[in-house]
Amino acid sequence: MKIVIVSGSPKGQGSASEKIAAALQSRLAPAADCAALHAAKHNREEIMAALAGCGALILVFPLYVDGIPSHLLRLLDETRSAIADAAPGLTVYCVVNNGFFEARQNALALELTRNFCDSSGLKWGQGLGVGAGGMIHAARVGHGPMKNLGKALDALAENILRGQTGEDRFAEPNFPKFLYNMIAHMSWRSQARKHGLKAGELRRGL
Ligand SMILES: Cc1cc2nc3c(=O)[nH]c(=O)nc-3n(C[C@H](O)[C@H](O)[C@H](O)COP(=O)(O)O)c2cc1C
Repeated sequence: MKIVIVSGSPKGQGSASEKIAAALQSRLAPAADCAALHAAKHNREEIMAALAGCGALILVFPLYVDGIPSHLLRLLDETRSAIADAAPGLTVYCVVNNGFFEARQNALALELTRNFCDSSGLKWGQGLGVGAGGMIHAARVGHGPMKNLGKALDALAENILRGQTGEDRFAEPNFPKFLYNMIAHMSWRSQARKHGLKAGELRRGL
């Protein structure tokens, strides 16, 4: 089966989406012809060429204001009928990661993507919401605090390879939420200081 993964983080490199996409690709590649592309780096023609005759499209992106990043949204909106024509019978899977610890924050973006599929004549496969995306570089996927993510990606890869659909799933790190929040606050304060702000000024305008 031919599979295309499209990463939808606008970051040039080092994004959580790219790491999740690579972990998923390594689970799919032995059994499938799996290409990984980047919505911010590859142009529309390159993405459409990769999608020709493809059996599964996997969108991997960060949660932006409870939704889909605008460059990816535009790409999807402008190519929806071309995708359906280029790959009849294509099934769409989706992995969304977010900054807050709670993976369920991604449920709305998964629903948006599912609605996009319904209105575009594309088959929806399954969604995975990944919480605490900021922790993704803390360990290898499948190990330590990223153990739950590894298991969720194993299950998703199995469904994709079998062409099956499934209920949306959600994965959070094997790590205490209060420690994650504490580390996030320390990092924001340190970044504020580096930019000449006092920690209290982070709340200005709230
Ligand atoms: C413009 C913007 C909007 C965001 N909105 C949300 C949000 O609504 N909820 C959330 O939990 N995280 C939000 N985040 C955090 C990102 O989803 C989080 O940092 C994610 O891990 C980034 O993934 P990436 O490295 O693949 O780009 C937002 C980040 C940015 C820059």
